[in-house]
Amino acid sequence: MARLLITGGAGFIGSHTCLVLLQAGHDLLVLDNFSNSTPLALERVSALAKLDVQSSQARLQVRRGDIRDRAGLDDLFSTAASAGAAIDAVVHFAGLKAVGESVREPLRYWDVNLTGSRCLLDAMNAHGCRTLVFSSSATLYGYPKDVPIPETASIQPINPYGHSKAAVEQLLHDLAASAPNQWRIACLRYFNPVGAHPSGKIGEDPLGTPNNLFPFMSQVAVGRRKSLQVFGGDWPTSDGTGVRDYIHVIDLAEGHSAALNCLLAEPAQLLTLNLGSGQGASVLEVVHAFERASGRQVPYEVVARRDGDAAITVADPAMALQRLGWKTQRGLDDICRDGWTWQAANPAGYSDQG
Ligand code: NAD
Ligand code: UFG
Repeated sequence: MARLLITGGAGFIGSHTCLVLLQAGHDLLVLDNFSNSTPLALERVSALAKLDVQSSQARLQVRRGDIRDRAGLDDLFSTAASAGAAIDAVVHFAGLKAVGESVREPLRYWDVNLTGSRCLLDAMNAHGCRTLVFSSSATLYGYPKDVPIPETASIQPINPYGHSKAAVEQLLHDLAASAPNQWRIACLRYFNPVGAHPSGKIGEDPLGTPNNLFPFMSQVAVGRRKSLQVFGGDWPTSDGTGVRDYIHVIDLAEGHSAALNCLLAEPAQLLTLNLGSGQGASVLEVVHAFERASGRQVPYEVVARRDGDAAITVADPAMALQRLGWKTQRGLDDICRDGWTWQAANPAGYSDQG
């Protein structure tokens, strides 16, 4: 079992991964500035992991702070080491992720995503912690030529968010090459993470109007929004709507656990893996699955295509199976059931309850 630093651990993917890592027996220190999350998510993770007050203090420590604060990172690594609980590895979720916002505010995206990652890597290197799982994204592939997309497909980001992820991947390659046999790194390229823990206690809680299909559709079903706009009915797909590879967030969390186990057990390496199901679903297939799971209607209208969208994005997940023995266990119906359990129990997200 390892002692792990989880940056951005209070966020959507981070909170679910914290739960899975606690259940796997790891001890966690979460660093988050709560710019897009709330400490309440971690309180719920602690309850789901059945940690009492004493074990919670030892097994799920939470520190408010920013990954760009180099002195703060030094203090965090030093304090952990001097308490006899040195950090063995880092799972790095902290970052900004909204494509449209990245087009409007590129400086902020490069600052948090690239400068923040560089600062974190610098601190890790200085403190001799050289094992990292990094949240990368299928957005790197831009408009893919071949679908399903293998990891060898060309990297052609089409927005500042994607460029910032590609830059961090490049930095990780350069770092690994500079000190072979030292760095153990996994770049995990997520496809479309959705759903929630089946308890309905933790889930996705976007600030303001959601940009993404799942949270928007869930808010329509729960009555917070009137109707869904389906972006384009004339794509070259079976029903004319865009196709994506939706992955249950618990499957994704388990992928992180598997990647960590692999890095900790094997010699130094840099792994780059797609985390997806290999199955595509169209917007209308998703809407109908969600209607079945929720028993609610999701009114929608088909409107013009959204700028920057690809027709079909589906992972080739064979490499993750081969290297980690990992594949998704949950399908679209599970995703919709668990996503609805969360939305129905928390119509206004975490702000519903104290
Ligand atoms: P999220 O916004 O829910 O979580 C990110 C967390 O990082 C939040 O808790 C936020 O408060 C924290 N954070 C942001 N900036 C920080 C900083 N400077 N210092 C410390 N903490 C900071 O997002 P998520 O969906 O959980 O995504 C996690 C990671 O996965 C991100 O790096 C994202 O780019 C990547 N990713 C997400 C998706 C997706 O569709 N959700 C897809 C591919 C990749
Ligand atoms: N869509 C709609 N209506 C909406 C929102 C989305 O029809 O209100 C459609 C989109 O056009 C697309 C599909 O639903 O066909 C999925 O769109 P999302 O916005 O949910 O997700 P994206 O595939 O655009 O991108 C997401 C994240 C990225 C991440 C990428 C990984 O937003 O950050 O998945 O593949 F990089």
